[in-house]
Amino acid sequence: MTKQPRDDPFTVLNDARLATVLRRLYSEANRQHLSVIRHFLPHTLSFLRRRFMPFSESEMGGFYADKYIAIVEEQGAFCYLTARALRARTIFEFGTSFGLSTLWLAAAVRANGGGRVVTTEIVPDKARIARRNFEEAGLSDLIEVREGDAMASLAADPSDIDFVLNDGFPMRALDIVKLLASRIRPCGVVLTDDVGGFRGNYRDYLAYMRDRANGFDSMLIPLKGGTEYSVRR
Ligand SMILES: C[S@@+](CC[C@H](N)C(=O)[O-])C[C@H]1O[C@@H](n2cnc3c(N)ncnc32)[C@H](O)[C@@H]1O
Repeated sequence: MTKQPRDDPFTVLNDARLATVLRRLYSEANRQHLSVIRHFLPHTLSFLRRRFMPFSESEMGGFYADKYIAIVEEQGAFCYLTARALRARTIFEFGTSFGLSTLWLAAAVRANGGGRVVTTEIVPDKARIARRNFEEAGLSDLIEVREGDAMASLAADPSDIDFVLNDGFPMRALDIVKLLASRIRPCGVVLTDDVGGFRGNYRDYLAYMRDRANGFDSMLIPLKGGTEYSVRR
């Protein structure tokens, strides 16, 4: 029998320098898993019952201020391929953290012939380190990092957004979509992380995205326990 090649999400990038940076960042992110699990442990039962992140926005801001909480490699490759298929040149991201997702997105924009990724981060230290990571990967010329609350920093941009990665804290996911919706071009895509895992937090978000009157066709795809994939009509 012929041996099948191992699935390796980084192969889609075809960029050894970027893959090296991403592998390093993913291994740093993986080292934080234990402390994230420990933080969650007292809330496991109620979480399993309600699929609800039991922290307020400010509590999340405190604990996660130095945590990666990044999209997984398969989601990154999926973002890359989606942005390629869309021939995306303008991508907006809610939630940079240390920039792992942003790197996948910027690689796609570069492969599409250029453009920009506008990304947002409320924690100044994260924004600073993300910028350093973008330099190291050779992608900083394609990325604009906006510090502060994304609701303000994304308030006034022209239309024609090809792709939105909606990956900040769950309580703001719907506000961000409403803020950007009219600027997303027809057939543009919004991808929202953690919707399946934290279904309790995303109840209003799902109701909005599934209501065709709001201009999206939308479904949960089986990436990392459920990522909402929405296409602008
Ligand atoms: C899930 S993490 C993003 C992970 C990142 N997309 C990745 O895959 O590497 C969410 C990030 O959103 C940031 N954030 C939360 N609320 C924000 C807001 N209102 N404006 C900008 N950034 C925010 C948090 O500080 C955190 O770093």
